[in-house]
Amino acid sequence: MKDYLTQDSITRDLATRFIGHRVILYSKTASTMEIARREAIKGAIEGTVVISNEQSAGRGRLGRLWLSPGGCVAVSVILYPDIAFLPSLIMVASLAVVHTILDITGLQPQIKWPNDVMIGGKKVCGVLVESGVRDGNIDYAIIGIGVNVNLEAAALGELSLPATSLSDELGRGVSRLELVRRLLVEMERLYLSAHSSEAVYREWKDSLETLGRRVRARSGDRVYEGIAESVDKDGSLLLRRLDGSLTRILAGDVTLQN
Ligand code: BTN
Repeated sequence: MKDYLTQDSITRDLATRFIGHRVILYSKTASTMEIARREAIKGAIEGTVVISNEQSAGRGRLGRLWLSPGGCVAVSVILYPDIAFLPSLIMVASLAVVHTILDITGLQPQIKWPNDVMIGGKKVCGVLVESGVRDGNIDYAIIGIGVNVNLEAAALGELSLPATSLSDELGRGVSRLELVRRLLVEMERLYLSAHSSEAVYREWKDSLETLGRRVRARSGDRVYEGIAESVDKDGSLLLRRLDGSLTRILAGDVTLQN
């Protein structure tokens, strides 16, 4: 299958107002987050996209490494939102990936809190949001998305979560160009809609496979066990502990217990 990304093929007639109007494309770089951060500090226009065919030092959440061999999509998008809007970015990003995968493959992903995109209990995509904040104001925010598209997930080796790819799930390749273009359109649509309604929060909440499940939640060096009861509009997880108390977890990771 021809699976070839160029700046022109990504931007040409893209149905967006600003996301993807400028695309910076690499065949290989350390991390698209790092390039995007430097571009944002230089004042890149909102919606500037940095994409790489491969990353040698991809960044994951909680200081982890993210593996991005050829066949992946590694993309970072520069935004300048109001600080109040920062928590919505993980919802926008993970839902945009869910919609895109469903639209172009028919596969129905779920989200594991806060923003791992899963198919059949295996991780197919990770989302990372980084921001620069000064005096309580946002200088920039960068949404980073890594999708396992055309690769054998088994070749990624031992990971913190079992992994899959779209080609593993379908038994055929998927056009990364179609996926990237669709993803950018969907991100912008959700980003704009999240400014004017709670629909994105509600849909993100409904897409979480975590809710109602017994989980072990890790936040910093603390570990909590309980039932994942709900999520708040700021993205935090509300965990009903075994002693009946409710704990709010702002950032961390969960493991489903059964
Ligand atoms: C996670 O830990 O699940 C988040 C992974 C995020 C990976 C993406 S790939 C594009 C962007 N560049 C990076 O270095 N990381 C993000």
